[in-house]
Amino acid sequence: MNVLVTGGAGFIGSNLLHYWSREHPEDRITCLDKLTYAGHLESIRDIIDDGRIEFIRGDICDERIVSETVKGKDIIIHLAAESHVDRSISAPDVFIRTNVLGTLTLLEAALKCDVGRFHHVSTDEVFGSLSLDSNEKFNEDTCYRPRSPYSASKASSDHLVRAYVETYGLNATISNCGNNFGPFQHPEKLIPRSIALLLEGKKVPLYGDGLNVRDWIFVEDHCSAIDTVISRGKRGETYLVSGRNELSNIELVRRILRLLDMGEDRIEFIRDRPGHDRRYAIDDTKIRSELGWHPSRGFDEALRETVDWYRRNKWWCEKVNEA
Ligand SMILES: NC(=O)c1ccc[n+]([C@@H]2O[C@H](COP(=O)([O-])OP(=O)(O)OC[C@H]3O[C@@H](n4cnc5c(N)ncnc54)[C@H](O)[C@@H]3O)[C@@H](O)[C@H]2O)c1
Repeated sequence: MNVLVTGGAGFIGSNLLHYWSREHPEDRITCLDKLTYAGHLESIRDIIDDGRIEFIRGDICDERIVSETVKGKDIIIHLAAESHVDRSISAPDVFIRTNVLGTLTLLEAALKCDVGRFHHVSTDEVFGSLSLDSNEKFNEDTCYRPRSPYSASKASSDHLVRAYVETYGLNATISNCGNNFGPFQHPEKLIPRSIALLLEGKKVPLYGDGLNVRDWIFVEDHCSAIDTVISRGKRGETYLVSGRNELSNIELVRRILRLLDMGEDRIEFIRDRPGHDRRYAIDDTKIRSELGWHPSRGFDEALRETVDWYRRNKWWCEKVNEA
């Protein structure tokens, strides 16, 4: 199979490229990435250098590059996006351009080039926020209620993908996943930022009261879920993906502190982010029961692996911070 991965120099994309080249060595893999501040060739240097993937630098909004790259592909796995909520609050326009217009450009090219399979990687943030004292969870029938420019742009891209299935018969699927963690995540995000600051002897800043709850998944498990949806998912369907690890931010930081043998005096509370979603929780019964997917590791084991990775790969964080 000829597989195109967009956004493969980013956090999840780079993990997916490592995963895919290991699990599907017979496939020819191409990565299309603009290399924004969030894209790092260092994360995929080994698999580019040994010829397991072809790398093309380009913008998913650029029709010419996209149609040339999409030609001859059997599968498109679409991850390229602007993905940081804080940045979407200060500069929403680039989120609309990449996440909405970029997705549209890819969908058009997929139709024109008769691509057999399109998979769109999305987020649980499109469903908005749940209250801390409810047991409610998002599922595939939950209404979209995005609350930040980031989640609004991802919601728009999900709607476009569905419209291309219904209107033009594109063979597409969508997965909406919770918060990922693992190797190669930009140090602006909660887990790598906390580990990096603590290793430098600094305090970890936590928004508000630290009680906001997220549903965490190890990135490698997200990659296997994407693979499962592509091989066994049904055309036009959406699958929610979760590691079933609902944790408040403060509890998460406490677990990192324990792994580093440090105390809670290393936490510093700071002013909350505007529109900060309180709780995300996912009911992922559909992907587990219909497609037989399940995650490979428990949360604490995956967190330990992640902390060890950042300890061993300080050079990677330094490179990313320099960029
Ligand atoms: N990180 C999470 O916890 C999470 C959870 C659920 C869903 N997602 C979704 O997964 C996808 C990947 O997320 P991530 O955390 O790896 O993001 P990331 O920010 O780490 O990586 C995004 C990648 O896209 C590239 N890119 C950005 N704009 C581009 C453009 N115009 N053209 C081509 N490439 C461009 C960047 O260079 C980067 O390599 C996103 O679609 C995101 O919405 C992320």
